[in-house]
Amino acid sequence: MSDEIPLAPLPDKPATKYSTPQAPETPPRRGFFSGAASIAIGALIGVVPTAAGLATLFDPLRRKGSGAKLLRVASLDTLPTSGEPRAFPILADYVDAWNRLPNQPIGTVYLRRLPGTDKVEAFNATCPHAGCMVSFKPERNQFQCPCHTSAFEADGSRVMPCVSPRDLDGLKCEVRKEEGQPVVYVAFENFYSGMHEKKAKA
Ligand code: FES
Repeated sequence: MSDEIPLAPLPDKPATKYSTPQAPETPPRRGFFSGAASIAIGALIGVVPTAAGLATLFDPLRRKGSGAKLLRVASLDTLPTSGEPRAFPILADYVDAWNRLPNQPIGTVYLRRLPGTDKVEAFNATCPHAGCMVSFKPERNQFQCPCHTSAFEADGSRVMPCVSPRDLDGLKCEVRKEEGQPVVYVAFENFYSGMHEKKAKA
């Protein structure tokens, strides 16, 4: 048995004198910026339609949210001096997300001139019980609801017993002089029915 140690095989090529370990490759800067731009554009594509949709959804609400404006309803001279209420339609521009329709009927008010004065009371003609339209019956000097027999005095107070949880809904109104003629303006609002609290709809 020989004691010689076997030699390791020689490499095929000589080692390069100055060879150094390769540094790990870094991603090119252009790739980084184009990736960031793609993310930003993607986010914009998502955000713009969402914002536009929300603006469209809430636009009518924003316009309605300005509060009840005083609307020109009738000449004071058309109201009986006896205190008998008279019904008038309320006309206003109807606005939703896509349409603007001028002078649309949006409700009915009863105006009552207090006897012997130029003062006026206004009531929403919608019954606070479940939303039917009341009508004034001169022969009884009362408002009556055709749906569930609620009745109201000429001043809007309930005739007991009454299923309506509250009196007729009074509305803010004022008389303005226009070219010397008194004109009645009403801040028209609708209210939730079926509750004791008088709560305006948005
Ligand atoms: S809606 Fe008027 S009494 Fe019911």
